[in-house]
Amino acid sequence: MSGRLTGKYATITGGAGGIGRTMAAGYIAEGATVCIADRSLEAAEDAAQALGPKAHACALDVADMGSIADFAAFTADRGGLDILVNNAAVFDLAPIADITEASYDRIFVINVKGLLFTLQAIAKQMMARGKRGRIINMASQAGRRGEALVGVYCASKAAVISITQSAGLDLIRHGIRVNGIAPGVVDTPMWAEVDALFARYENLPVGEKKRLVGLAVPYGRMGRPDDLVGAAVFLASDEAEYVVAQTLNVDGGNWMS
Ligand SMILES: NC(=O)c1ccc[n+]([C@@H]2O[C@H](COP(=O)([O-])OP(=O)(O)OC[C@H]3O[C@@H](n4cnc5c(N)ncnc54)[C@H](O)[C@@H]3O)[C@@H](O)[C@H]2O)c1
Repeated sequence: MSGRLTGKYATITGGAGGIGRTMAAGYIAEGATVCIADRSLEAAEDAAQALGPKAHACALDVADMGSIADFAAFTADRGGLDILVNNAAVFDLAPIADITEASYDRIFVINVKGLLFTLQAIAKQMMARGKRGRIINMASQAGRRGEALVGVYCASKAAVISITQSAGLDLIRHGIRVNGIAPGVVDTPMWAEVDALFARYENLPVGEKKRLVGLAVPYGRMGRPDDLVGAAVFLASDEAEYVVAQTLNVDGGNWMS
């Protein structure tokens, strides 16, 4: 521990999930207090309990504007956030001919609208309190280019990269730094769903897609949630003071941009 986030109050949305929970542990190790905000309060409470006294839980459904307002009030009552990680997201997959309106709406409402309005609510809170806040948006290598079966999720993550640029450019005049992280393929609960969907559409045995994507990573293996922690701490810390509106690829070499 080097205390790079000592005294900071951070939230990770979707914090009960694979990457979010590991990032929360990384922030706590650097001295932060972390609010685990998740659609499932029970899962958030379990994660907070496992993370110890510097973690607490909060219910947040980013698909619900009322829930975002309640979450902003909850964190304001605790002194206001210094760091927001917009990490909550969902995945789906289908060839273009099979994409449904329901799947499109679910992905865009959570991955794009929810991210934008959570960012807005917390940025306004940071501005009102004169905080030089840091906001990190979880994008994906999926946002760097389209994929035959992943049209809607890829589009949602391209939107995250674009929102990171626009919000980064707008909010820096208030001293708020907005950046993003684009992971590659990371072994989390999300991948069980991803693998099962690929198995169905590509006629593969369960587990095969996951094995193949891991083999294809230049680093030589699939990512682990721990692989994201260094970048998440860096972007939240003073060391990244001059890094603005960027989305950093943390993907074992899958993508260069
Ligand atoms: N796992 C990967 O390979 C991978 C790759 C690139 C990017 N990402 C991105 O990293 C982030 C974390 O992914 P993960 O693999 O840890 O996923 P995960 O499924 O393990 O966790 C996602 C979390 O988000 C929560 N969530 C879902 N909808 C929500 C909502 N409406 N409101 C609040 N919380 C909600 C879930 O309850 C869950 O705890 C996501 O933004 C994902 O798109 C993941």
